[in-house]
Amino acid sequence: MDKYIVNPWEVKGDIDYSKLIKEFGTEAINESLLKRIQKHTKELHPFLRRKIFFSHRDLNWLLDEYEKGNKFFLYTGRAPSGPIHIGHLIPWMFTKWLQDKFGAELWFQFPDEEKFLFKENLTLEDTKRFTYDNMLDVIALGFKVNKTKFLVDTVHAGVMYKEAVRVAKKITFSTVKASFGFDNQNNIGSIFYTAMQAVPAFLPSVLKKKNIPCLIPLGVDQDPHFRLTRDVIHKLGYYKPAIIHCRFLPGLGGMEKGKMSASDASTVIYTTDDEKTVRNKIMKYAFSGGQATIEEHRKKGGNPDIDVSYQWLTFFEENDKRLEEIYHSYKSGKLLTGELKQILVDKLNKFLKEHQKKREKAKKEIDKFMFKV
Ligand code: TRP
Repeated sequence: MDKYIVNPWEVKGDIDYSKLIKEFGTEAINESLLKRIQKHTKELHPFLRRKIFFSHRDLNWLLDEYEKGNKFFLYTGRAPSGPIHIGHLIPWMFTKWLQDKFGAELWFQFPDEEKFLFKENLTLEDTKRFTYDNMLDVIALGFKVNKTKFLVDTVHAGVMYKEAVRVAKKITFSTVKASFGFDNQNNIGSIFYTAMQAVPAFLPSVLKKKNIPCLIPLGVDQDPHFRLTRDVIHKLGYYKPAIIHCRFLPGLGGMEKGKMSASDASTVIYTTDDEKTVRNKIMKYAFSGGQATIEEHRKKGGNPDIDVSYQWLTFFEENDKRLEEIYHSYKSGKLLTGELKQILVDKLNKFLKEHQKKREKAKKEIDKFMFKV
């Protein structure tokens, strides 16, 4: 049984992404849509070429509007609950690319009440601390300061709450129960929460007093919030936001365990891990598609499709040719597991070294990214 779970509160199991498209009622990103995107961006981001972003809602409509001169803004977010790991970065790296290619404004939400409401042991002081910590990783990715606005729910409640109640009035308890599997034990804050996550999808339209199209890049687990949001804000007179969904970076322990999860430190690479830690974790924990002995590996070859190090390279090695070489070389048995792991270690450490430098610099920039009412 290939059982898997994908919703905003839980991601588990070996996810069948084409099934998910049917279950969620989204559309696959096909070749003609890729061509259409490429017309505007010249090149395609590796995440598009490799179907890491694999699904969407209303992207064709968004491009229709764009081609008519009706520019869109981007919206994504992060509920602070702990340090950032490299899996979190995937949708944001892509969002940064979209910002550059389309010259789009980005609204980045930090719902600092979300994980406080949903997790037993997290205080508002904890989430506040993580908000500022997590902002450093977002800024480090290179978003344009004059085109990026950070919204923090408890800080910007003044502008957000009025819009959130308009949304909340149009969502019944039974809808939320059905969408998220809530029951009578859920606290009332968690029941209201979706209304807050809906707000940035139309807040720019409210502030600029005109309807502006919105595109939301996200991990596919967040889609249920926006299924509700799309219906409701349409009723309020705003465009339904377009959405583009990505797959999850698997944890070090392997694909069948679902996404990288911060609750299991041995499956995670944090953005602040040093070179040695990265090396140790990968050498020790990265699930391998290799054979038990070198002789056997040389004879039968490895299986890159289940090998976590190879799978991670599909996210982090931008060069298609190089990636293909690694694939074949591992599959044929020429490349050993230890060697494959070393390629990944070098790649990640190079990336993280840069990231950590920029993250340090970001400490002075947080205030410039904050939305000023
Ligand atoms: N709920 C998301 C999380 O758990 C945070 C979030 C808020 C978000 N707004 C978003 C994610 C918009 C994607 C798109 O991290």
